[in-house]
Amino acid sequence: KTISLIGAPTDVGASVKGAGMGPDALRVAGLVEALQARQLRVIDHGNLHGPANPWQEPVNGLRHLEEAVAWNQGLFDAVDSALSQGHMPMMMGGDHCLAIGSISAVAKHCRKVGKKLRVLWFDAHADSNLSSISPTGNIHGMPVACLMGHGPEQLIHYAGHTPAVKPDEIRLIGIRSVDEGEKRFIHEMGMQVYDMRYIDEYGMRAAMNAALEGVDENTHLHVSFDMDCLDPAIAPGVGTAVLGGPTYREAQLCMEMVADTGLLASLDVVELNPALDIRNQTAVLAVDLIESLFGKSTLVRING
Ligand code: ARG
Ligand code: MN
Ligand code: MN
Ligand code: MN
Repeated sequence: KTISLIGAPTDVGASVKGAGMGPDALRVAGLVEALQARQLRVIDHGNLHGPANPWQEPVNGLRHLEEAVAWNQGLFDAVDSALSQGHMPMMMGGDHCLAIGSISAVAKHCRKVGKKLRVLWFDAHADSNLSSISPTGNIHGMPVACLMGHGPEQLIHYAGHTPAVKPDEIRLIGIRSVDEGEKRFIHEMGMQVYDMRYIDEYGMRAAMNAALEGVDENTHLHVSFDMDCLDPAIAPGVGTAVLGGPTYREAQLCMEMVADTGLLASLDVVELNPALDIRNQTAVLAVDLIESLFGKSTLVRING
Protein backbone atom coordinates (compact mmCIF):
# COMPACT_ATOMS: atom_id res chain seq x y z
CA LYS A 1 0.00 0.00 0.00
CA THR A 2 1.24 3.51 -0.83
CA ILE A 3 0.32 6.51 1.26
CA SER A 4 0.31 9.98 -0.28
CA LEU A 5 0.98 12.51 2.45
CA ILE A 6 -0.44 15.90 1.55
CA GLY A 7 0.28 18.88 3.81
CA ALA A 8 -2.27 21.67 3.84
CA PRO A 9 -0.75 24.33 6.08
CA THR A 10 -3.52 26.82 6.66
CA ASP A 11 -5.80 28.18 9.34
CA VAL A 12 -8.09 30.27 7.13
CA GLY A 13 -11.13 28.35 8.41
CA ALA A 14 -10.46 29.12 12.06
CA SER A 15 -10.27 32.19 14.26
CA VAL A 16 -7.44 30.83 16.38
CA LYS A 17 -4.18 30.82 14.44
CA GLY A 18 -1.66 27.99 14.45
CA ALA A 19 -3.20 24.94 12.75
CA GLY A 20 -1.16 25.86 9.68
CA MET A 21 1.88 24.47 11.47
CA GLY A 22 0.22 21.07 11.85
CA PRO A 23 1.83 19.26 8.91
CA ASP A 24 5.37 20.01 10.02
CA ALA A 25 4.60 19.12 13.63
CA LEU A 26 3.44 15.70 12.41
CA ARG A 27 6.63 15.27 10.42
CA VAL A 28 8.75 16.29 13.42
CA ALA A 29 6.84 13.75 15.52
CA GLY A 30 7.95 11.02 13.11
CA LEU A 31 4.86 10.35 11.02
CA VAL A 32 6.72 9.18 7.93
CA GLU A 33 9.01 6.82 9.85
CA ALA A 34 6.07 5.42 11.82
CA LEU A 35 4.16 4.60 8.64
CA GLN A 36 7.23 3.06 7.04
CA ALA A 37 7.64 0.88 10.11
CA ARG A 38 4.12 -0.42 9.35
CA GLN A 39 5.48 -1.65 6.00
CA LEU A 40 3.73 1.12 4.11
CA ARG A 41 5.27 2.97 1.20
CA VAL A 42 5.09 6.69 1.90
CA ILE A 43 5.30 9.53 -0.57
CA ASP A 44 5.44 12.88 1.19
CA HIS A 45 4.26 15.37 -1.39
CA GLY A 46 5.25 18.25 0.86
CA ASN A 47 2.94 21.13 1.60
CA LEU A 48 0.41 22.70 -0.73
CA HIS A 49 0.55 26.43 -1.29
CA GLY A 50 -2.36 28.78 -0.95
CA PRO A 51 -3.38 32.25 0.13
CA ALA A 52 -2.23 33.64 3.47
CA ASN A 53 -4.65 34.10 6.34
CA PRO A 54 -5.91 37.67 5.88
CA TRP A 55 -7.26 37.82 9.41
CA GLN A 56 -10.55 39.46 8.49
CA GLU A 57 -13.94 39.62 10.15
CA PRO A 58 -16.71 37.48 8.62
CA VAL A 59 -18.52 38.87 5.56
CA ASN A 60 -22.13 37.68 5.22
CA GLY A 61 -21.50 35.14 7.96
CA LEU A 62 -18.35 33.69 6.39
CA ARG A 63 -14.76 34.40 7.34
CA HIS A 64 -12.14 34.11 4.57
CA LEU A 65 -14.45 32.47 2.03
CA GLU A 66 -12.23 33.23 -0.94
CA GLU A 67 -9.15 31.80 0.79
CA ALA A 68 -11.04 28.70 1.94
CA VAL A 69 -12.21 28.11 -1.63
CA ALA A 70 -8.63 28.33 -2.96
CA TRP A 71 -7.20 25.96 -0.33
CA ASN A 72 -9.97 23.44 -0.83
CA GLN A 73 -9.54 23.49 -4.60
CA GLY A 74 -5.82 22.79 -4.23
CA LEU A 75 -6.48 20.00 -1.79
CA PHE A 76 -9.29 18.53 -3.89
CA ASP A 77 -6.90 18.31 -6.84
CA ALA A 78 -4.14 16.71 -4.76
CA VAL A 79 -6.43 14.10 -3.17
CA ASP A 80 -8.12 13.42 -6.51
CA SER A 81 -4.75 12.76 -8.13
CA ALA A 82 -3.55 10.52 -5.27
CA LEU A 83 -6.72 8.43 -5.51
CA SER A 84 -6.52 8.10 -9.28
CA GLN A 85 -2.97 6.76 -8.88
CA GLY A 86 -4.31 4.13 -6.49
CA HIS A 87 -2.66 5.74 -3.46
CA MET A 88 -4.22 6.29 -0.08
CA PRO A 89 -4.36 10.03 0.57
CA MET A 90 -3.55 11.28 4.05
CA MET A 91 -4.28 14.96 4.42
CA MET A 92 -2.34 16.74 7.15
CA GLY A 93 -4.15 19.92 8.17
CA GLY A 94 -4.60 22.62 8.63
CA ASP A 95 -8.00 23.45 9.96
CA HIS A 96 -11.07 21.28 9.42
CA CYS A 97 -12.54 23.37 6.57
CA LEU A 98 -10.10 21.39 4.42
CA ALA A 99 -12.24 18.27 4.77
CA ILE A 100 -14.56 19.84 2.21
CA GLY A 101 -11.94 19.46 -0.53
CA SER A 102 -10.53 16.18 0.64
CA ILE A 103 -13.84 14.37 1.18
CA SER A 104 -15.28 15.82 -2.04
CA ALA A 105 -12.41 14.14 -3.91
CA VAL A 106 -13.10 10.91 -2.03
CA ALA A 107 -16.81 11.11 -2.90
CA LYS A 108 -15.98 11.64 -6.58
CA HIS A 109 -13.67 8.63 -6.49
CA CYS A 110 -16.30 6.42 -4.84
CA ARG A 111 -18.85 7.33 -7.45
CA LYS A 112 -16.36 6.59 -10.24
CA VAL A 113 -15.29 3.18 -8.95
CA GLY A 114 -18.73 2.21 -7.63
CA LYS A 115 -17.86 2.05 -3.95
CA LYS A 116 -20.05 2.87 -1.00
CA LEU A 117 -18.74 5.73 1.09
CA ARG A 118 -18.62 5.82 4.88
CA VAL A 119 -17.13 8.83 6.62
CA LEU A 120 -16.23 8.60 10.31
CA TRP A 121 -16.02 12.16 11.60
CA PHE A 122 -14.21 12.28 14.96
CA ASP A 123 -14.72 15.67 16.56
CA ALA A 124 -15.72 17.55 19.70
CA HIS A 125 -17.85 19.71 17.40
CA ALA A 126 -20.54 18.89 14.86
CA ASP A 127 -19.05 21.19 12.17
CA SER A 128 -22.58 21.48 10.77
CA ASN A 129 -23.00 25.24 10.80
CA LEU A 130 -24.43 27.36 8.02
CA SER A 131 -23.40 30.97 7.44
CA SER A 132 -26.87 32.01 8.60
CA ILE A 133 -26.61 30.25 11.98
CA SER A 134 -22.89 30.13 12.79
CA PRO A 135 -21.96 32.09 15.90
CA THR A 136 -18.44 32.69 14.56
CA GLY A 137 -18.48 32.64 10.76
CA ASN A 138 -15.53 30.24 10.89
CA ILE A 139 -15.67 27.85 7.96
CA HIS A 140 -14.02 25.04 9.94
CA GLY A 141 -17.37 24.89 11.77
CA MET A 142 -19.19 24.24 8.46
CA PRO A 143 -17.59 21.38 6.48
CA VAL A 144 -20.19 18.72 7.33
CA ALA A 145 -22.99 21.00 6.13
CA CYS A 146 -21.03 21.95 2.98
CA LEU A 147 -20.39 18.31 2.13
CA MET A 148 -24.10 17.66 2.45
CA GLY A 149 -24.78 20.46 -0.03
CA HIS A 150 -25.62 23.23 2.41
CA GLY A 151 -23.13 26.05 2.18
CA PRO A 152 -21.76 28.73 -0.10
CA GLU A 153 -22.01 27.87 -3.77
CA GLN A 154 -18.20 27.82 -4.23
CA LEU A 155 -17.75 25.13 -1.56
CA ILE A 156 -20.41 22.58 -2.47
CA HIS A 157 -19.58 21.53 -6.03
CA TYR A 158 -16.02 20.17 -5.96
CA ALA A 159 -17.12 16.53 -6.24
CA GLY A 160 -19.06 17.13 -9.45
CA HIS A 161 -22.24 15.97 -7.74
CA THR A 162 -24.06 17.81 -4.96
CA PRO A 163 -24.34 16.86 -2.20
CA ALA A 164 -20.94 15.21 -2.17
CA VAL A 165 -21.99 13.17 0.85
CA LYS A 166 -25.46 12.01 1.87
CA PRO A 167 -26.49 12.19 5.52
CA ASP A 168 -26.52 8.39 5.82
CA GLU A 169 -22.90 8.16 4.64
CA ILE A 170 -21.46 10.02 7.62
CA ARG A 171 -21.21 9.31 11.36
CA LEU A 172 -20.18 11.92 13.93
CA ILE A 173 -18.27 10.52 16.90
CA GLY A 174 -17.12 12.16 20.16
CA ILE A 175 -19.34 15.22 19.77
CA ARG A 176 -19.90 17.43 22.84
CA SER A 177 -20.16 21.01 21.59
CA VAL A 178 -23.06 21.68 19.27
CA ASP A 179 -24.54 25.11 18.52
CA GLU A 180 -28.33 25.57 18.67
CA GLY A 181 -28.71 25.95 14.91
CA GLU A 182 -26.56 22.91 14.31
CA LYS A 183 -28.82 20.77 16.50
CA ARG A 184 -31.77 21.63 14.29
CA PHE A 185 -29.77 21.01 11.12
CA ILE A 186 -28.53 17.61 12.32
CA HIS A 187 -32.05 16.65 13.26
CA GLU A 188 -33.50 17.77 9.92
CA MET A 189 -30.80 15.90 8.00
CA GLY A 190 -31.32 12.77 10.07
CA MET A 191 -27.61 12.35 10.70
CA GLN A 192 -26.32 9.64 13.02
CA VAL A 193 -24.37 11.07 15.92
CA TYR A 194 -22.46 9.16 18.59
CA ASP A 195 -21.95 11.97 21.05
CA MET A 196 -20.16 11.79 24.40
CA ARG A 197 -23.40 11.04 26.19
CA TYR A 198 -23.83 7.97 23.98
CA ILE A 199 -20.22 6.96 24.57
CA ASP A 200 -20.60 7.44 28.35
CA GLU A 201 -23.72 5.32 28.46
CA TYR A 202 -22.92 2.53 26.01
CA GLY A 203 -19.14 2.67 25.72
CA MET A 204 -16.82 3.36 22.83
CA ARG A 205 -17.00 -0.21 21.59
CA ALA A 206 -20.76 0.04 21.09
CA ALA A 207 -20.45 3.47 19.50
CA MET A 208 -17.87 2.24 17.01
CA ASN A 209 -19.80 -0.91 16.22
CA ALA A 210 -22.86 1.22 15.50
CA ALA A 211 -20.87 3.72 13.44
CA LEU A 212 -19.37 0.92 11.37
CA GLU A 213 -22.64 -0.91 10.86
CA GLY A 214 -23.24 -1.74 7.21
CA VAL A 215 -19.66 -1.30 6.01
CA ASP A 216 -18.52 -4.17 3.83
CA GLU A 217 -15.76 -5.09 1.35
CA ASN A 218 -17.23 -2.63 -1.12
CA THR A 219 -17.00 0.32 1.27
CA HIS A 220 -14.46 3.11 1.05
CA LEU A 221 -13.88 4.11 4.66
CA HIS A 222 -12.73 7.67 5.23
CA VAL A 223 -11.64 8.92 8.65
CA SER A 224 -11.74 12.66 9.27
CA PHE A 225 -9.93 13.09 12.55
CA ASP A 226 -10.19 16.45 14.30
CA MET A 227 -7.60 16.38 17.08
CA ASP A 228 -9.98 18.31 19.34
CA CYS A 229 -12.09 15.16 19.47
CA LEU A 230 -9.66 13.95 22.13
CA ASP A 231 -9.82 15.05 25.71
CA PRO A 232 -7.70 18.21 26.14
CA ALA A 233 -5.90 16.50 29.03
CA ILE A 234 -4.12 14.34 26.45
CA ALA A 235 -4.40 16.66 23.43
CA PRO A 236 -3.79 20.26 24.49
CA GLY A 237 -2.49 21.36 21.09
CA VAL A 238 -5.79 22.37 19.47
CA GLY A 239 -7.46 25.74 18.86
CA THR A 240 -10.96 24.95 20.10
CA ALA A 241 -10.55 22.53 23.01
CA VAL A 242 -13.64 21.16 24.78
CA LEU A 243 -13.50 19.25 28.06
CA GLY A 244 -14.81 15.74 28.33
CA GLY A 245 -13.49 13.93 25.28
CA PRO A 246 -12.39 10.33 24.77
CA THR A 247 -9.48 9.08 26.84
CA TYR A 248 -6.30 7.67 25.42
CA ARG A 249 -7.64 4.12 25.76
CA GLU A 250 -10.96 4.99 24.13
CA ALA A 251 -9.17 6.70 21.25
CA GLN A 252 -6.92 3.68 20.78
CA LEU A 253 -9.94 1.42 20.66
CA CYS A 254 -11.49 3.58 17.92
CA MET A 255 -8.36 3.35 15.84
CA GLU A 256 -7.98 -0.38 16.36
CA MET A 257 -11.60 -1.04 15.45
CA VAL A 258 -11.14 0.90 12.22
CA ALA A 259 -7.92 -1.00 11.51
CA ASP A 260 -9.71 -4.31 12.09
CA THR A 261 -12.12 -3.56 9.24
CA GLY A 262 -9.19 -3.40 6.80
CA LEU A 263 -11.21 -0.84 4.86
CA LEU A 264 -9.53 2.46 5.67
CA ALA A 265 -8.95 4.15 2.33
CA SER A 266 -8.34 7.84 3.09
CA LEU A 267 -7.63 10.02 6.10
CA ASP A 268 -7.65 13.62 7.33
CA VAL A 269 -5.73 14.67 10.43
CA VAL A 270 -6.72 18.23 11.25
CA GLU A 271 -6.80 21.00 13.83
CA LEU A 272 -3.44 20.14 15.34
CA ASN A 273 -2.18 23.49 16.67
CA PRO A 274 1.53 23.37 17.57
CA ALA A 275 1.41 26.96 18.85
CA LEU A 276 -0.79 25.79 21.71
CA ASP A 277 0.88 22.44 22.25
CA ILE A 278 3.28 21.31 24.95
CA ARG A 279 6.57 20.03 23.51
CA ASN A 280 4.72 18.60 20.47
CA GLN A 281 2.87 16.05 22.62
CA THR A 282 -0.36 16.31 20.64
CA ALA A 283 1.49 15.59 17.39
CA VAL A 284 3.25 12.64 19.02
CA LEU A 285 -0.15 11.39 20.17
CA ALA A 286 -1.53 11.80 16.65
CA VAL A 287 1.29 9.67 15.26
CA ASP A 288 0.69 7.07 17.96
CA LEU A 289 -3.01 6.88 17.06
CA ILE A 290 -2.26 6.76 13.34
CA GLU A 291 0.00 3.76 13.95
CA SER A 292 -2.96 1.98 15.54
CA LEU A 293 -5.17 3.04 12.67
CA PHE A 294 -2.74 1.21 10.40
CA GLY A 295 -2.81 -1.94 12.45
CA LYS A 296 -0.17 -1.56 15.13
CA SER A 297 -1.54 -3.50 18.08
CA THR A 298 -0.53 -3.73 21.69
CA LEU A 299 -2.09 -7.16 21.89
CA VAL A 300 0.28 -10.02 22.51
CA ARG A 301 -0.22 -12.06 19.38
CA ILE A 302 1.51 -12.93 16.16
CA ASN A 303 1.42 -10.08 13.62
CA GLY A 304 0.21 -7.82 16.43
N1 ARG B 1 -19.22 25.36 16.44
C1 ARG B 1 -18.16 26.31 16.51
C2 ARG B 1 -18.16 27.24 15.30
O1 ARG B 1 -18.95 27.08 14.42
C3 ARG B 1 -16.82 25.63 16.65
C4 ARG B 1 -16.36 24.85 15.45
C5 ARG B 1 -15.05 24.22 15.68
N2 ARG B 1 -14.67 23.41 14.54
C6 ARG B 1 -13.50 22.81 14.43
N3 ARG B 1 -13.26 22.18 13.30
N4 ARG B 1 -12.62 22.84 15.38
O2 ARG B 1 -17.36 28.13 15.22
MN1 MN C 1 -13.80 19.71 13.26
MN1 MN D 1 -13.54 20.28 16.42
MN1 MN E 1 -10.94 3.47 -3.07
